[in-house]
Amino acid sequence: MRRHVAMRPKRQKRMAETCGIILAGGAGTRLHPMTAVVSKQLQPVYDKPMIYYPLSTLMLAGIRDILIISTPHDVPHFQRLLGDGSRLGISITYAVQDAPRGIAEAFIIGREFIGTRRVCLILGDNLFYGKLDFLRKALASDAPAIVFGYRVQDPERYGVAEVDATGKVISIEEKPAHPKSNLAIPGLYVYGPDVCDIAANLQPSARGEVEITDVHKVYLEQGRLHLIELGRGLAWLDTGTPESLIEAGTFIHAIEKRQGMKIACLEEVALRQGFIDTEAYGSVVAALPRSDYRRYCESLLGGL
Ligand code: DAU
Repeated sequence: MRRHVAMRPKRQKRMAETCGIILAGGAGTRLHPMTAVVSKQLQPVYDKPMIYYPLSTLMLAGIRDILIISTPHDVPHFQRLLGDGSRLGISITYAVQDAPRGIAEAFIIGREFIGTRRVCLILGDNLFYGKLDFLRKALASDAPAIVFGYRVQDPERYGVAEVDATGKVISIEEKPAHPKSNLAIPGLYVYGPDVCDIAANLQPSARGEVEITDVHKVYLEQGRLHLIELGRGLAWLDTGTPESLIEAGTFIHAIEKRQGMKIACLEEVALRQGFIDTEAYGSVVAALPRSDYRRYCESLLGGL
């Protein structure tokens, strides 16, 4: 079957200046024993390793320079899986977080990588499905710090924002026992380069972590925190527990089966984004092991 592959127009300059970080470390204790050997972000979500999903989110937003941060044990596994990204027309570099000292440590570890650029951080266990215009808009803006808000029925499991009638953030709390709203903050954030200084000056919380919510509290106090509420047409999926992991896999399976299209097929994303041309795509696909995944990639160019 031949499918038409529409290329996106060339990215705007601002997009090229924005870099991405995927934080994919942590102990994965809530998924033990699945994570005793294989890290959480390498667990399958239906037919792909989990990290394919956040990586595709960054790529679809136009980000081509990406730092993956993980544990000393897991970095080599991510390297084996994704390499330097060149076959996808992107650059992937790796850094080690030797202990899970908090999400905000990504900006301490990634300081040199970020330099003077804007940065988009995505947690390696956060899955988004739907139109990503909200993210492209956030990347194109000059706002110092952008978080997103997503209505959920169990906000106490997340960072939670309270907003006024105009949508301005009034307060932000990490896993509050008594949430002031049902507006959870997903693990996807956009900042200017000064996030590195803010993170470097934070004190670890009671649980010994430099908290991403504390970064946001600094921006909030400075009147520089922006929140964009995400509509219910976008799916933000959780993979924190065995149950939510299988639910995410079932969700991906249902959509892929219905549409006959894959979600987060990195080779396809690279081609559609214009990161690689059809010739390079053909070579990349030819090097894939024979599998349904490869057959799908081939079908995009009428290769079957
Ligand atoms: O999923 C969104 C939520 O992620 C936000 O609403 C919360 O504000 C934010 O704190 C975070 O909450 P989690 O409970 O999911 O955080 P967790 O400690 O599980 O870390 C999230 C991911 O980041 C996890 O897959 C492991 C990775 N991680 C975490 C820490 C603390 C690291 O790679 N290094 C770390 O030091």
